[in-house]
Amino acid sequence: MATHYFIILTKSKQRKYNRHILYRMKNKIKELEAKIAEAQLGGGQKRIDSQHKKGKLTARERIHFLMDEGSFEEIGMMVTHRSTQFGLEREKYLGDGVVTGYGTINGRMVYVFSQDFTVFGGSLSETFAEKICKVMDLAMKNGAPVIGLNDSGGARIQEGVVSLGGYADIFYRNTLASGVVPQLSAIMGPCAGGAVYSPAITDFIMMVENTSYMFVTGPNVVKTVTHEEVTSEELGGASTHSTKSGVTHFSCANEIECINNIKALLSYMPQNCEDSAPSVPYESNGNEKRPGLNALIPENPNQPYDMRDVINGVIDTDTFLEVHKNFAENIVVGFARLAGKSIGIVANQPAFLAGVLDINSSTKAARFVRFCDSFNIPLLVFEDVPGFLPGTDQEWHGIITNGAKLLYAFCEATVPRVTVITRKAYGGAYDVMNSKHIGADMNYAWPSAEIAVMGAKGAAEIIFKAEIAEAKDPVAKLAEKEKEYIEHFANPYRAAERGYVDEVIKPEDTREKLIKAFGMLKNKVAKLPKKKHGNIPL
Ligand code: HXC
Repeated sequence: MATHYFIILTKSKQRKYNRHILYRMKNKIKELEAKIAEAQLGGGQKRIDSQHKKGKLTARERIHFLMDEGSFEEIGMMVTHRSTQFGLEREKYLGDGVVTGYGTINGRMVYVFSQDFTVFGGSLSETFAEKICKVMDLAMKNGAPVIGLNDSGGARIQEGVVSLGGYADIFYRNTLASGVVPQLSAIMGPCAGGAVYSPAITDFIMMVENTSYMFVTGPNVVKTVTHEEVTSEELGGASTHSTKSGVTHFSCANEIECINNIKALLSYMPQNCEDSAPSVPYESNGNEKRPGLNALIPENPNQPYDMRDVINGVIDTDTFLEVHKNFAENIVVGFARLAGKSIGIVANQPAFLAGVLDINSSTKAARFVRFCDSFNIPLLVFEDVPGFLPGTDQEWHGIITNGAKLLYAFCEATVPRVTVITRKAYGGAYDVMNSKHIGADMNYAWPSAEIAVMGAKGAAEIIFKAEIAEAKDPVAKLAEKEKEYIEHFANPYRAAERGYVDEVIKPEDTREKLIKAFGMLKNKVAKLPKKKHGNIPL
């Protein structure tokens, strides 16, 4: 049996003892505060100054601007590396080059890692990777988004394969988290080599103009291998990746704009795949008619108009957040609110390449559709598409496989799906753009809709070939046959007769119809056949 001894102190001795432990604790707290102050400085004031001189914020400043004030709780501030090579054992920084933790953005929980370029150039060590993995694991267990702020020279060169292993640990978690919690990446400095693949697996990337770049191999290697002379900015800067490659979804003028974009983007997303898309309070004034929509479609079917005018005319005022704005501009994708509810919009853009579907627009839209479907965000499609882009360039680069991605993405999407055909819905593109046949719930058409296999001229040339050739005046005959085809097919009524279009509506009623349709669909339950996973044509 254990014996317990109690020392009974007199009151004065008790007071003296209390003063003693208080003094001891004060000293320990001072030591802790000194360590916290040391950690706050990352790689030291000189390197912080150099970061500022480059027009960049530090890792902690970025977190400060990103999170609700006072909400950030840091995890692993005292972590240091374990490396003993190349004199690294004599150079240690508390936190080891990455600030990790959790907190709130507009009151919603998020997990964050922010790479600190002032510590070994933000390079990734074994412990650096462990810190990132720890917050990712917490995010997965607790169902909240992960935001990564990247500013790094890549693998910590002194650590060799241990660093590579750390990257792979992160890639693995990025992949497992994909479709479970939203993952957002901001590139705010270098991001090169294999390091690019973590952001690439995440849902959205934003880059800061002139201070960030992403590439698999830098300008020096490019010069050696392909003899091309190219700057870092040209090879992998924000403007390159937002226009040419589509690697980044947003190009931001500066870091504050980038941080604000992250917050805006998050506001449309649920916390995880089991959560519903968020909504903001909305009170209708009883009049959802938008007469301005009646005047948007030009009389000449070949005349362009800006589909953004249709989008903005239908959704809640100023709520459209366009994604991939400068890439594959023949399709417009982005988030918006309709009667306060979050929706994803996919829309052909007649103002760019006549809104034709090509490789880039198909992959851009497919990725967006899959994001929305992963996170329960209903899809609204505006359709004005003349078909798929013809030509050797498209065929040789795989428009078949790439176009199929969009088809596949729509087919397997189980969220509420509504389409509005504003003008052309031609050929295979009619099927692909969220037709009823591939699972759309409600399809509307404006009276200006033309739903047919192809444009009237091309159709007349084929089906009346002999008649036109034999005619005294082939040009007049073609015009006559073209008119005949237009009268028969260049309208929404053949599709409406079949029920492929649920209702032909006045443009001014579109908003009201959509609010009602999405309201009707809000409890939709649709399941895919049991499978391990599908095999999207990659
Ligand atoms: C260790 C590094 C480092 C790295 C930079 N530093 N990169 N330390 N490992 N990878 C250190 C520098 O020694 C320097 O330390 C400080 O960070 C700042 O670097 P500077 O060169 O002075 O800065 P700057 O001129 O702005 O140039 C930044 C840079 C350059 C372009 C990122 O540092 C650079 O090229 N670094 C190497 C990049 C690289 O090759 N990484 C490995 C890629 S392979 P002091 O003490 O002076 O402050 C890879 C594989 C990943 O990442 C694979 C995953 C599958």
